[in-house]
Amino acid sequence: MKLRTQLMIAFLTFSIFPIVFAGMLISVDKLFLLYQFDDFGPEMRSMVIQMLVSGMFLLGFISAALTMWLYRSVVRPLNKLQEATRKIRDGNLDFTLEVDDDDEIGQLCQDFEEMRIRLKRNAEEKVQYDLENKELISNISHDLKTPITAIKGYVEGIMDGVASSPEKLDKYIRTIYNKANDMDRLIDELTFYSKIDTNKIPYTFSKINVESYFGDCAEEVGLDMESHNIDFGYENHVSEDVVVIADSEQLKRVMNNIISNSVKYLDKPRGLIYIRITDVGDFIQVEVEDNGRGIAAQDLPYIFDRFYRTDFSRNSSQGGSGIGLSIVHKIIEDHGGRIWATSKEGVGTKMNFVLRKYQEVTQYEQNIDH
Ligand SMILES: Nc1ncnc2c1ncn2[C@@H]1O[C@H](COP(=O)(O)OP(=O)(O)O)[C@@H](O)[C@H]1O
Ligand SMILES: [Mg+2]
Repeated sequence: MKLRTQLMIAFLTFSIFPIVFAGMLISVDKLFLLYQFDDFGPEMRSMVIQMLVSGMFLLGFISAALTMWLYRSVVRPLNKLQEATRKIRDGNLDFTLEVDDDDEIGQLCQDFEEMRIRLKRNAEEKVQYDLENKELISNISHDLKTPITAIKGYVEGIMDGVASSPEKLDKYIRTIYNKANDMDRLIDELTFYSKIDTNKIPYTFSKINVESYFGDCAEEVGLDMESHNIDFGYENHVSEDVVVIADSEQLKRVMNNIISNSVKYLDKPRGLIYIRITDVGDFIQVEVEDNGRGIAAQDLPYIFDRFYRTDFSRNSSQGGSGIGLSIVHKIIEDHGGRIWATSKEGVGTKMNFVLRKYQEVTQYEQNIDH
């Protein structure tokens, strides 16, 4: 039975029936009550009847008001709730459930409204996620296609006998090797990215001596830059005994990703990349500076977001998935560090990150702590 019918029945029971019953009592002249008190006289009798009648009307009025009140506070919000549920069932989440009261049903409506907002947010996130995934797939296809096309071209050249001299052949094979390496790096990035998504990065932390680690790194990068014809500089201002706790392989990934961006976004005839390590109290700061095309101020806050690429990068023929810096950000965060970028469009970019120094706790300090 509907709540409205139940309320109607309650209303009738509380008001109409007593009125009818009283009416019957009054209309019957041989009223038991009045018959008993016959000696009251006609005035007294009419007064009692009047009292009875007005009492019945008052009862009827109160009962009607109560029923209306119940109807307004229960049935109306329930109807709204029902309508909202139907909308959600049909996949419509673009509405607002107005909550007027703060009683139990009002609370229920409020909870429902919060649930709707959360569902809407989830649905929007899913759409965004799907869009990003589609974009990622299209970027990856582009990125894989570019080296494969080059490899095919060079292999065909070799097959057709274009690489006539041993030098030419050597150059072709070297290019094929480099292109295969590009593909390898991209696939590696993607595998790593899927691990980030599921929070399954296999870290192996160990103590790393800053001077020797970044010294080796600079040597390697220096050789690479030489082959790219880019000027390279390295400075270390950290004393030789400074140690950090880090995963050397992942830190290498961080440096590689940052430096490969610097190389990729160079636009000057004479490229310049500079690595600087400084001591900033409890932390060491690593700076990678380039004189590339720079990043516009409006893009700067977003470059560490996954899939984010500036309009220029998106429109350029250079491939890229926009996940390189999100990986870097995640790794530095997992090391308890912080990363940020400063840049000037057309002038260059400086990537900075800090890592906490490892401080040996001496026996004396341990004793003080306890
Ligand atoms: N050194 C840099 N110089 C200029 N722009 C950069 C540099 N590093 C990053 N960016 C910008 O930040 C964006 C995000 O970088 P990243 O996550 O590595 O993606 P991707 O290199 O795949 O485009 C790049 O698309 C680029 O626009
Ligand atoms: Mg990149």
